[in-house]
Amino acid sequence: MSKKNVFIETYGCQMNVYDTELVKSILQKAEYKIVDQESTADIVMLNTCSVRDNANRKIYNRVHEIKKAKDGKVSIGVLGCMATNFKTNLLENKRLGIDFIAGPDSYKHLPNLISTVTETGIKAFDVTLSEFETYSDIDPVRDAGVNAWIAIMRGCNNFCTFCVVPYTRGRERSREPKNIIEEVKRLVKNGYKQVTLLGQNVNSYQHEKYDFTDLMKMVSDVEGIERIRYTSPHPKDFPRKLLSLMSERNNICNQVHMPLQAGNDRILDIMNRTYTQREFLDLIKEARDIMPNVNISTDIILGFPTETAQEFEDTVKVVQEVEFDQAYIFKYSERPNTRASKKYADDVPEKEKTRRIVLLNEIQHDIALRKNQSHIGQIEKILIAETSTKRSADYYQGRNDGNTVVIVPKSDAYTKGDLIDVKIHGATKNALQADVV
Ligand code: SAH
Ligand code: SF4
Ligand code: F3S
Repeated sequence: MSKKNVFIETYGCQMNVYDTELVKSILQKAEYKIVDQESTADIVMLNTCSVRDNANRKIYNRVHEIKKAKDGKVSIGVLGCMATNFKTNLLENKRLGIDFIAGPDSYKHLPNLISTVTETGIKAFDVTLSEFETYSDIDPVRDAGVNAWIAIMRGCNNFCTFCVVPYTRGRERSREPKNIIEEVKRLVKNGYKQVTLLGQNVNSYQHEKYDFTDLMKMVSDVEGIERIRYTSPHPKDFPRKLLSLMSERNNICNQVHMPLQAGNDRILDIMNRTYTQREFLDLIKEARDIMPNVNISTDIILGFPTETAQEFEDTVKVVQEVEFDQAYIFKYSERPNTRASKKYADDVPEKEKTRRIVLLNEIQHDIALRKNQSHIGQIEKILIAETSTKRSADYYQGRNDGNTVVIVPKSDAYTKGDLIDVKIHGATKNALQADVV
């Protein structure tokens, strides 16, 4: 029998990108062929996200599109967070016609689920969450590249009241440090310059006596690893000793993603974030005292239930005071099963959410532009990642230590994967322009 072709499309966060690499590895071992085009696929899988409602809707549209394009001659599987969030409801929806679903902890069962569907025509699912599965025995099939994602932990125990992730990904569990370090060493050997350690809340990493800072130290000690990033930490328990380690180690990047979510204490409290505006601001100050030029990015939600216009102004105030290098700003989106959805009506009118997001984005864009302009004239090291997606095929894009995109003209002197010194000569709110020195 010829191998069946599988095409996988990934939505959502970096954890899903990593999970798709795990799934590819599991399926290749089970004699499936991974293809990079939907048109030649016998099986299409969508690795989905459930964090906001529009993420769901995108998937419904894609399923219809795929079935139409393939004239029904395809098996469709839904993986990822929508799978655990909606469970068998997804399969029962006849109009949608999904054939199998697998949650984030069930990927080792995918070969069985797929053969059930293709051999018997019976719909199959496994959305059980595990307290132990970390896939530490699976070697992900990564795209050749410069950065490798590594999940160091899975799940989340924080239960921020707006968030579906603790329900879709289950309880926290951490991978053994030794196993992570071996993976990093293999990656260095295979030419990767950068690793990004992933977890829903990396501060909670704990394996026996090793915490996240211990792990970072061990990764940083790996010979030949040039750049280390991580995401996301939580402001409530961000370890101060990690800041010191970051400032001491050249190969740990000068960047922190510090999700604010809201600037008002009452809203932070009912979001169950367990820090105050003051504590957040103090943490930022400490980070900058230790690393004066640290690049700080954030996530913000506006229009959380009961948030008044006055309370939203506290978020504006924090944004203006901190001057984040980058902010990902979202309108609150009610998610089924979450504590917020059970307790509150989604009562901030859509029009008001739009007013707030437009205003905050305008403020943030000015800040980002100003911060980027302050780089002009500086010499910075960039890791070239790919041909520029923004400028043209005559340019490469890479990232500086702080993670800002930098665009340089192509040349024979360097290529993808090289770390080179450049001089910044231009800036927009999203990127820097540079020439090689
Ligand atoms: N674990 C990570 C990221 C979780 S999801 C962390 O804690 O940082 C990524 C971002 O999506 C969150 O930081 C939050 O800003 C946003 N988000 C999560 N749930 C949301 C919801 N119900 N509505 C709107 N934005 C949401
Ligand atoms: Fe969601 Fe909060 Fe966990 Fe992040 S820390 S995944 S926002 S519950
Ligand atoms: Fe989305 Fe799940 Fe990631 S809900 S943001 S894919 S953890």
